[in-house]
Order: sequence, then C-alpha cells, then structure tokens
Amino acid sequence: MTQARYLLRNQEIEDIDQFEVYRAHGGYDALKKALAEFEPEAVVDLVKRSGLRGRGGAGFPTGVKWGFLPKDGRPRYLVVNSDEAEPGTFKDRELIERNPHQLIEGMIISSFAIQARQAYIYCRGEFLRGYEQLSRAVQEAYAAGFLGDNILDSGFALDIFVYRGAGAYICGEESALLESLEGRRGNPRLKPPFPAVAGLYGMPTIVNNVETIANVPPIVTLGAEWYTSMGTEKSPGLKIMSVSGKVNRPGNYEIPLATPLRALIDDYAGGMQPGRSVKCVIPGGSSVPLLMPDQLDTPLDYESVLQAGSMLGSGGCIVLDDTVCIVKASHRLVKFYREESCGKCTPCREGTYWMADVLERVEAGMGDEGDLAILMDVADNINGKCFCPLGDASIGFLVSAIRHFRDEFEAHVREHSCPMGEKVYDTANY
Ligand SMILES: Cc1cc2nc3c(=O)[nH]c(=O)nc-3n(C[C@H](O)[C@H](O)[C@H](O)COP(=O)(O)O)c2cc1C
Ligand code: SF4
Repeated sequence: MTQARYLLRNQEIEDIDQFEVYRAHGGYDALKKALAEFEPEAVVDLVKRSGLRGRGGAGFPTGVKWGFLPKDGRPRYLVVNSDEAEPGTFKDRELIERNPHQLIEGMIISSFAIQARQAYIYCRGEFLRGYEQLSRAVQEAYAAGFLGDNILDSGFALDIFVYRGAGAYICGEESALLESLEGRRGNPRLKPPFPAVAGLYGMPTIVNNVETIANVPPIVTLGAEWYTSMGTEKSPGLKIMSVSGKVNRPGNYEIPLATPLRALIDDYAGGMQPGRSVKCVIPGGSSVPLLMPDQLDTPLDYESVLQAGSMLGSGGCIVLDDTVCIVKASHRLVKFYREESCGKCTPCREGTYWMADVLERVEAGMGDEGDLAILMDVADNINGKCFCPLGDASIGFLVSAIRHFRDEFEAHVREHSCPMGEKVYDTANY
C-alpha cells in the first residue's frame, strides 16, 4: 500500500535520523519559515486552523490548548510526553528513535508559538535508544544554532532538556508526568487547575504528545489547508496507527484519518496471516472497548470510532484473531492495570486487584457462577469513580469483552476448561 509519509519519513528516507540527512531533505526549513514569516500568535492560529488534535489519546485540539495559556508574563514550559507505555502503542518510539529531528524541530516551533524558553522531553525509561537518539539530536540542533540563544538571529531563545522516566505507565498521565519531572513520585494531581494554568513548577505548561508535535513542521511548511484536505472536518490530517496481532505486516502506518479499519488491516498491514480471521479489534490502545468483525468498515477518525462504541485513543490497533482466548486476553490486560495502578485512590487500587483475581480463577477453569456478576460489579464501582482516567482504562476492554463474548466466559466456568483450547492451569503453580 502506497502511503504518504510526513511523520514516519524514516520509512522512505534512509538515515533520516542523522542531522545531515534530515537537513538535506528540507529539515529545519519549517523552523526557518516560522521564525522569519510568522509572529508567535500566527503559529498558534495556523495550528488551530489545521484542526490538529492531540495524538496522546484524548484528541483535544492542539491550537485550542495552546490558547489556554494565561497571558500574565510568567514563564511557560512545553513538555513533550514520550512516555508511551500503553499496550499496543509503539508509534512515538519509532518517531524518537528513527526521526528524532522532526520532533526537535516541532518543539522549537511550538515553543516559539507559545513563547516558552525551556522545553522538556519526558522519555519513557525503557526507551534507552530513543533517549540516546534524542540527546544526540538536541546536541546537533544546538551546534547548528537551532537551539540556545538568539536562534537564527530571531531573538528567540530556547533550551531543550531530555529527561528519562523510570518506567511507570501512570507517568504518561500528564499531571503525574509533571510530578515525576519535578522529582517526586509520579502520582496524578487534582485537576483543575490544568497544566496550561498551573503545570511544571506551578507555571503555565503545555503537555503534548510526540506525534502531535511531530505534525507541526509539515503543517508550517504545507499549510493548514493541506492538513484539512485529509480526514474529516472534525478529525483532519494524519494519524499513525500501530498495528499488532496476527497480521502479515505488523508495524506503524501513517494513514489519513477516516481510513476504514478494514483497509488498515488488509491493505496497510497485509491482511491476516494464513488460516487466521479477525475475532475482534482493539482500535486505540489497551484502554478502549473492542470492535467486532462486523464493524471493520468503521472509519478511523475520532467521531466514527466513538460512534461505533470505542475510541481512537493512541492508535494502538491490536488485532485479536480467532484463536485468541478472550478470557486470557482480558486477564492479561487487567493484570497490566493492576501493576500500573499508582494506588492513590481506592476504586482503582482495590478494583484492579479484584478483577485480576477473579479473572485468574475464571481463566484457570476454577471460576464460580457468580464471577461474571462480580466482575461487572467491580467494573461498575470503578467506572467514573477514580481520581484519574487509568481506572476507567482498566475496564474498557474487559466490559466490552464480557458484553460480546459472554458465552466464552461462561464456558470457562461451566466446563472448567477453555473452549479455545488454551491449557487451563493449576492456580497453585501460577
Ligand atoms: C494512564 C494514562 C497514561 C497516559 N499515557 C500517555 C502517554 O504515554 N503519552 C501521551 O502522549 N499521553 C498519554 N496520556 C495522555 C496525557 O495525559 C495527555 O493527555 C497527553 O500527553 C496530551 O498530549 P496531546 O494533547 O498532544 O495528546 C496518558 C493518560 C493516562 C490517563
Ligand atoms: S485511578 Fe488508579 S492510577 Fe489513577 S490516581 Fe487512582 S489509583 Fe492512581
């Protein structure tokens, strides 16, 4: 499948992670253009008109968020969220490892737009390669005069700091990220105030995802109309989808928003492996409800996926094939949330443990008849009752799995075995 690449340019230009190669292919020209031709407010306006929405999960309009910064003369910060720990999502990793200068260029333009003098990249601790690539790219940008004082004689000055997290999923939540960046345990903060008003060190702060910021240079170069010519009115532009599961070509694909899910699987990812068919799809990372095979024509844009009962989220598209045991998949994901719950609030801390416990015995063929009711009850006590969205994320897939595959859950309890042929195990040895 031929596809335009404006973000994952590494997929068509070898060694674009190298400064010279990036420059030779127009790299940092958008920065030059922004500094020479635009006032900061005009860049904010351009991004607003492009309709770019945050690619970290919530899809909030980026230019609108930038516009929330109070104009009170206090220092402002840009913080780029490169924590990416959502199961099934691996797009930011490719961007920082293989096209890091595009992120740096996007950060400089974005910082100019919001008039930040310091910007941070919060990099997931496990991404050692990404951290090294970003650190090198930042040094190269300094050496070329794209960072530091008086960038390109514009009078604008910016320093970028690359910070390594310590490997906690909750530190991807923006307020927990800021706590961690300030050197504390990564627990979420109460909102409001939102980071745009009181963020890093209590100052107005914009937190944006890696992919969001990587979109900024091509928008400056090619214009808002170019961006809105793709996708839909409310979901314009490009989105990177990470496709995993038993497809022929798992990987990251850059698609115009509103591309049908079926095309992503069949055309971009090469279809299902021989002998496999789609059982269900998690379209937006492990936190969202599943879609069924009769929903494969759903256009992948924020509104259409929501209407279909799920969310586009971070774009982590996990394709579960017909051999997957839905109980095992649910157990596996709930265990992830149990491990990653920060423990600050009771429904999430206790609820994720309960759900994992119950799922463990159901999967093992040792469940009781009332177990599905317990699972739904615990999920109900989490739903909308937690301090941060991680709680709701922990039940998204499970509740939809029980709704669509109730028979499979019940069969585990009734027959003390897995109808998909998965080995049930002795919990004593688990
Ligand atoms: C538990 C949890 C984990 C998150 N992890 C990430 C992450 O790894 N990367 C990310 O960009 N946003 C993540 N988010 C969303 C951020 O809180 C925030 O909305 C986002 O970074 C804003 O950037 P955007 O507007 O560019 O999407 C997470 C949210 C939650 C609740
Ligand atoms: S919902 Fe979970 S992760 Fe979020 S604050 Fe509560 S315990 Fe922590």
